[in-house]
Amino acid sequence: MTGFTRGRNLRQNETMRRAPESVHAIADEALAAAPADLRETFGLRLDRWWADLRDGLAGVYSPEDADGLGERLVRLAAAAFLARDPELRRLDAERTLAPDWFQQSDMLGYAAYTDRFGGTIAGVQDKIGYLQELGVTYLHLMPLLRPRPGDSDGGYAVADYRTVREDLGTVADLTTLATALRHSGISLVLDLVLNHVAREHEWAEKARAGDERYREYFYTYPDRTMPDAYERTLPEVFPDFAPGNFTFDDDLKAWVWTTFNSFQWDVKWTNPDVFYEYADIILFLANTGVQVLRLDAIAFMFKRLGTNSQNQPEVHFITQALRAVSRIACPAVTFKAEAIVGPTDLVHYLGQGNHHGKVSDIAYHNTLMVQIWSMLAARDARPAAYALRNLPVAPSTTAWVTYLRCHDDIGWAIDDDDAAALGLSGRDHRAFLSDYYSGVFPGSPARGLVFQYNPATGDRRISGMAASLNGLESAIEQNDSAALDLVIGRMFVAYAMVLGWGGIPVVWMGDELALTNDLHWADEPGHENDNRWTHRPSMPWDLAARRTDGTTPAGRMFGVLRHLIGVRSGLPHLHASVAAEIPALSDPGVLPVLRRHPVGPMLQLYNVTDSWRSWPGDRLAEFGLADGIDQISGDAVRPGDEGNVWLPPYAALWITAG
Ligand code: GLC
Ligand code: GLC
Repeated sequence: MTGFTRGRNLRQNETMRRAPESVHAIADEALAAAPADLRETFGLRLDRWWADLRDGLAGVYSPEDADGLGERLVRLAAAAFLARDPELRRLDAERTLAPDWFQQSDMLGYAAYTDRFGGTIAGVQDKIGYLQELGVTYLHLMPLLRPRPGDSDGGYAVADYRTVREDLGTVADLTTLATALRHSGISLVLDLVLNHVAREHEWAEKARAGDERYREYFYTYPDRTMPDAYERTLPEVFPDFAPGNFTFDDDLKAWVWTTFNSFQWDVKWTNPDVFYEYADIILFLANTGVQVLRLDAIAFMFKRLGTNSQNQPEVHFITQALRAVSRIACPAVTFKAEAIVGPTDLVHYLGQGNHHGKVSDIAYHNTLMVQIWSMLAARDARPAAYALRNLPVAPSTTAWVTYLRCHDDIGWAIDDDDAAALGLSGRDHRAFLSDYYSGVFPGSPARGLVFQYNPATGDRRISGMAASLNGLESAIEQNDSAALDLVIGRMFVAYAMVLGWGGIPVVWMGDELALTNDLHWADEPGHENDNRWTHRPSMPWDLAARRTDGTTPAGRMFGVLRHLIGVRSGLPHLHASVAAEIPALSDPGVLPVLRRHPVGPMLQLYNVTDSWRSWPGDRLAEFGLADGIDQISGDAVRPGDEGNVWLPPYAALWITAG
């Protein structure tokens, strides 16, 4: 009796769907030389995840293609499982025992460019102490696989998924770093760019050289008929420096689909070979020790004529099948969806309907990010409360990445209907936010830059560091200490919201030191047209060395953030399985957030204005917090004689039972 059959016989629940014998036979063969316990583990996982894999493939491919692909994938997964470092297999077991590891309240993410943070991959290892001091448990290193030469969209134009960018190190360095991070309690997060490859990737090179097999990896069209038909309903991601969604390639003598830059070729997921290639890449990255894969631009993966070719149902079938493969070979790995889309489309990336529990576990909370900036500019929490309250609820097994800003621009995803419900015009409010954060609005201290002005829609996205958007340069130039206090206040309340929501808060490098815009962003060749580089600075380690100096903005910010992070990690109320609710507002300038965790209620109050605001004392009792303690200050929260709790400008209170 083999390991698997023993495992299968132990299974009591006969109604459970299992992998068919033919599939087990493939695994048996692939693992013939493996010890019995490994074969048993693999067999159990196959039984558990086979249906997800099969159903996922069936949602995209013909029955014959799906069957053939399924078998090839089991062989692939078995080989990756066998090659997996025993320490990683142990991690697989640990994560299986604690599947909510990424939902814990001590999760804290940090995102950085390898070269701009540590110089090289080995250099990042030397900075682990700095990360630990901040409380980091999740490190997202921006794209570091070999990009195309020249402009590579910040590494998002990958030329080879199996090699590291030469000046950063090697795959061996990456494995060493992942191990060192893991031993320090930090999970490594890498991008998986799966919507497109660089024009210089081997697949594209072969297609350009006339290889028909590889031409089928891309969407190519001999003339403008189909591109024009698609363009009728496609938006433009980079209307300014990469207009349109198709590029004529002289080698192909055809138009090729390029959603992003002309050198980023969209791959054709309807081709089962493309699926197989990416499954192989996922398993390769998993075996270097990567624990979270950020599925870049996932919304764009599947095209459909007459639509905007985003958020198509097939995207979720594909993700489900990819996830099943990785769960069979390396269950420690989880997926994070980078879908910057509207709320109703967004929740699907965390699994809805038949895909519940089967796709990504993590997704970016773009709405919260945008609403934080909107609240701070308008000094009004009402539109945010409305929008956040109306968000569909995410599955309890998932987590949002909450963030104040990232490496990309901020697009004002303010829903027209949400705005209309409050008597506002969505277009006007978006225009106000662009004016405010580019510093054009009278009295605005912000120093953002306009990114990709689109005359057709009026959209002006914004680039800029958080401290610059909050007015740090203006305060310093005017030598105005009161204005400086307000800047730190805005950073404090904004980060308190990011940390208080529940999920994985991610700090983009530099915010912890209140770094301002990089004024030399355009100096690097290839960057001159893309002002997102203004908020992707290099780490000034001399400044970081003085991070405990509370007399500087950098020191104040580091202290504020470290304190909030420390408090957060001790509050089980913030486990991501519990949804954040928005109770009725009492003051338009105060956003309340309620979390009803079984350990007890938690009420958060955020004053998003620069004046004193109040919260009625009787509404503490309403939530069972009459004897509440503000965990941030450690003080009891008690109403004054007139019955109100008073909040100073930009105050944040995290109130739990005393
Ligand atoms: C993602 C990245 C962005 C990049 C794009 C194309 O959205 O965050 O920086 O430009 O994908 O890969
Ligand atoms: C938009 C797209 C996102 C892209 C970004 C580039 O937000 O939705 O996928 O990466 O623009 O700045």
